[in-house]
Amino acid sequence: RKKVTINSLRSLYKKGEPITVLTAHDFPSAHVAEAAGMEIILVGDSLAMVALGMEDTSEVLVEEMLLHCRSVSRAAKSAFTVGDMPMGSYEIAPEQALETAIRFVKEGRVQGIKLEGGIEMAPTIKKITSAGIPVLGHVGLTPQRQNALGGFRVQGKTSAGALKVLEDALAVQEAGCFATVLEAVPQEVATLVTKKLSIPTIGIGAGNGCSGQVLVQVDMTGNFPPGRFIPKFVKKYGDVWSESLRAIEAYRDETKSRAYPAPEHTYPISKEELAEFER
Ligand code: KIV
Ligand code: NA
Repeated sequence: RKKVTINSLRSLYKKGEPITVLTAHDFPSAHVAEAAGMEIILVGDSLAMVALGMEDTSEVLVEEMLLHCRSVSRAAKSAFTVGDMPMGSYEIAPEQALETAIRFVKEGRVQGIKLEGGIEMAPTIKKITSAGIPVLGHVGLTPQRQNALGGFRVQGKTSAGALKVLEDALAVQEAGCFATVLEAVPQEVATLVTKKLSIPTIGIGAGNGCSGQVLVQVDMTGNFPPGRFIPKFVKKYGDVWSESLRAIEAYRDETKSRAYPAPEHTYPISKEELAEFER
């Protein structure tokens, strides 16, 4: 597969072909996303929860994100890779944000970065893109600000709210984002925002009128125990957790019964050497 670039993403958008985006948080999860032909692999800060067991994304550190970015980048040979800048690493000033973005490129080995926020982040996005680092925007529901939003709530459900989503999306486009995530907004709003923009919108919980979709890999592959909450917009395409559980339980049972290891899993020694050894 040819390397996905800013230019090839642009031509998918121009053709009206949906852009496929999936998160990955380590080498194996990136490998499978790459093999499945994902155009963008996002090292989302959702890894705080799904890979590190944290309560929310506010806890994850830049250093931790960089370790995950590096391992993802080693497997993502043709996908375009994007690292999610964590809460606290870019809000203070555009200079701080650019320093963090440079670390993501140099140490995380990703090609672009993502940050959350609209109008208020425009100077920051300008600063980073003018240094030649592609920025993926993120408007609508911005989970890093969940405490200020009163939780994980759908955005743009009122006409004023919808206008705010549109203004934020236009602002990040104007500031130089190559695309923007649109999270948890009504389908009609996301579709209209997509029509008004001249960069791709990557929807999550935003309906099918966007220019592409993104999902969290452990959610869509079903790599989580039964009973865990998943948002309404997630489609569970697989049941990886059950398959892993089945395999590990079978290994447990066969080890207990000594059915494993069987002869084919063992190394041979010649009769002569064995006789000599046993003397
Ligand atoms: O952290 C994440 O995984 C994300 C995507 C779901 C957009 O931000
Ligand atoms: Na995120």
